[in-house]
Amino acid sequence: MIAKFRTVEYDPEKNHLIILDQTRLPVRESYIRLKTVNDVINSIRQLKVRGAPLIGVAAAYGVVIASRNDSMKKVNSAIRSIAKARPTAVNLSWALHRMQERAQVSDELYPALLHEALLIEKEDKDSCLTIGRIGVRLIPSAANIMVYCNAGALATTGIGTALGIIYTAKQHKKKIEVFACETRPLLQGSRLTSWELTKNQIKTHIICDNMAAHFMPKMSMIFIGADRIASNGDTANKIGSKGLAIIANAHGVPFYVAAPRSSFDLKIKNGSSIPIEQRGHNEITFFNKKCIVASQAMISNPAFDVTPNHLISAFITERGIIKPPFKRNIARLLSRTNGPDRR
Ligand code: MRU
Repeated sequence: MIAKFRTVEYDPEKNHLIILDQTRLPVRESYIRLKTVNDVINSIRQLKVRGAPLIGVAAAYGVVIASRNDSMKKVNSAIRSIAKARPTAVNLSWALHRMQERAQVSDELYPALLHEALLIEKEDKDSCLTIGRIGVRLIPSAANIMVYCNAGALATTGIGTALGIIYTAKQHKKKIEVFACETRPLLQGSRLTSWELTKNQIKTHIICDNMAAHFMPKMSMIFIGADRIASNGDTANKIGSKGLAIIANAHGVPFYVAAPRSSFDLKIKNGSSIPIEQRGHNEITFFNKKCIVASQAMISNPAFDVTPNHLISAFITERGIIKPPFKRNIARLLSRTNGPDRR
């Protein structure tokens, strides 16, 4: 249904992970081979492979690469190192935990871990489709929808979370126009979201982040993804999401978070326990390989912020829509680890 590209693909013959290098988009659709655990770690750090669900899947295949010689020591060491690649998206540690548990009960590591990684990938695809089917009910027959960062097919192995809902709305013949914030500093909105949406014939407007308040009165709703959601609903997502939530609330525009169960961290009470990744200064001080700030200026580059739960209208998950009060309703719907999805 959506234009074809594969964000990750495991090559069992060579024991490589092939990824679409997202740092080269939208200029070039180029695929690279990750041959070692270190290649996987570096690609996650450099955002060649990015987006919370996709980071989880890539991490799982990183463990598969390490398991080829059936050495538990190598598997454990890979899990420890991949876990440090990026701190905020809980999908990374969630996937690694599953791989660890699988390794502990398996005699033959490689086939068991490959099976688990393929399962994680399949579940990701299925979750995206279900989130799309559930979320589409919130969209009227014609809507202007603002999105932030990239929570699309590029951030998953399926149709995406927030953008998956938009693709599903298109299938349902709803008239959608998307307003994608460019998402400084690394421009996931203008580079990636615009690439995949226009490839799929979705009407897309790119706006600078500081235009969001100006356009907000025209919006029907906002959809964002998530990197980690605490048990009270506080949500970490790309830096700038919190500001967007404040603007949306000031205008009475619904602010929805679309995310799979694997993005919820029910072990933490609230957003103050979410680790926020601090990235290099060059991402801010350099543009097009040129320094664009005064050299004495101090720089901060937090990659994520935490939107407080009271600014969020609802969560759209593969198990159903979660409305406030979040603490109670998140626990009710998500505390069982497995089980049938509510569709
Ligand atoms: O730094 P990134 O590009 O990995 O940040 C990605 C986001 O913030 C996404 O919105 C989030 O991971 C959800 S992706 C379905």
